[in-house]
Amino acid sequence: TSAPQPRRSQSGIQVVAHRGASEDAPEHTLAAYRKAIEDGADALECDVRLTADGHLVCVHDRRVDRTSNGRGAVSALELADLAALDFGSWKDAPESPDWKDPSLTSVLTLERLLELVSDAGRRVDLAIETKHPTRWAGQVEERLLTLLGRFGLAAPPSPEESPVRIMSFSARSLHRVAAAAPAVPTVYLMQFATPRVRDGRLPAGSRIAGPGIRMVRSHPGVVERLRRAGHAVHVWTVNEPEDVELCVDLGVEAIITNRPGTVLSQLGRS
Ligand code: G3P
Ligand code: CA
Repeated sequence: TSAPQPRRSQSGIQVVAHRGASEDAPEHTLAAYRKAIEDGADALECDVRLTADGHLVCVHDRRVDRTSNGRGAVSALELADLAALDFGSWKDAPESPDWKDPSLTSVLTLERLLELVSDAGRRVDLAIETKHPTRWAGQVEERLLTLLGRFGLAAPPSPEESPVRIMSFSARSLHRVAAAAPAVPTVYLMQFATPRVRDGRLPAGSRIAGPGIRMVRSHPGVVERLRRAGHAVHVWTVNEPEDVELCVDLGVEAIITNRPGTVLSQLGRS
């Protein structure tokens, strides 16, 4: 099967807001995602984890300690526990009153993020990363696809037309997604150029290659090989102007960045 070609921006590259506009606002909050949409991002990236009572929430770390005023593992807390926490005030030198507004900085469920995207007034894609899904033996993917189904997003007409894609460092997680929802694109995240990847091959069930920028810098030829093998390439986390330039030169399909507004202006799109 050929790899899906994601929607391209006018400059030929899709700009994806990593954890929202996370340089400007507290990551994974409505404040950060709203800012990313205002900045003109083509897509939003988020990490998802399951709470103790089975809700998918957008949190990067295993624990809430770094990004909230609480403590503990997400998997040990219930949604109501998380809802009582402040996910905004940790961010340095808050300049925006939004960061003090609990409606914009309390824990973000994936369901709420899907609502935000569907109300955006323009197409905004979503790149959802499953974090440590093996711990849950399929539950993360099952609940994720059930939720996407409620929004009519689990069975797009084709991968090319899907506004949602699932990313993971876990090939097994992507395999599960591909088996249950073959038209939802999967992105295999990687830090290192393994022998298989150097040959331009991805694990079964993975369609798009998701290398880190360090790997792209050290192995630009691997990116070319992956693309020649028919895999779109989405690079993370691309914040420096020279790295944006490198990605453009290599012709990658998407860059995932903490500063979508800055990158869009570098690309002449704002
Ligand atoms: O977009 C992929 C990238 O987010 C993977 O790394 O640690 O930021 O989730 P991390
Ligand atoms: Ca991520």
